[in-house]
Amino acid sequence: MESDSPHLRGRLVVFEGIDGTGKSTQIKLLAQYLQEHGIEVVTDYEPTRGEWGMKVRNAALSGERLSLEEEINCLLQDRREHVREFIEPALNRGAWVLLDRYYLSMMAYQGATGVNVEDLRQMNEEFATIPDVAFWLDIPVEMAMERMNARGSDKDAFENETFLQACSAIYSAMEMPWLFRIEADGEIHETQARVREIIRAELEV
Ligand code: TYD
Repeated sequence: MESDSPHLRGRLVVFEGIDGTGKSTQIKLLAQYLQEHGIEVVTDYEPTRGEWGMKVRNAALSGERLSLEEEINCLLQDRREHVREFIEPALNRGAWVLLDRYYLSMMAYQGATGVNVEDLRQMNEEFATIPDVAFWLDIPVEMAMERMNARGSDKDAFENETFLQACSAIYSAMEMPWLFRIEADGEIHETQARVREIIRAELEV
């Protein structure tokens, strides 16, 4: 979709990583920083709470997961709607969109389930806006598991150690010029400082 005022187009910034890496905290802190610089910011996540996203969430919470084909179809449908109805309209009016998970999650998670990672990338890039910057928040899987246990929330079907190791390995092998690995096993504000440094260098805030 073409913007009427291309010079006003916002930026798409994506946070990725296995569960328990602190993506939502980093997004909140970055949103504050950008707002202090007078930028309109919207934040959101995938899977969404729309019809398709909820199908995947509910299945995972019941500990089961859909069939792989059904899971991919639902997630693609969910993302298609998200891009069309939320992400593109926001970018076109000049807002910055900060996302907790996007299609790199599909490459990592459905890739770890056995689908060819490059095929997954192509399926998504047929319709999904390419991020301006994506961060892979990298922490050891054992630490992510500890954080999830400390949170005390029930684990969903995606959250077991062997599977998350496979997801992590896929993230670490990704090579896109707009993807940045951030060490996220330290203090929250240290991680945020690294995020902001890259945002300033890449996107000239
Ligand atoms: P998650 O970020 O854990 O949601 P919340 O913290 O709100 O419960 O996302 C739910 C799960 O969905 C997560 O374990 C990863 C998985 N997922 C995929 O498998 N493929 C995808 O394309 C996306 C966006 C998420």
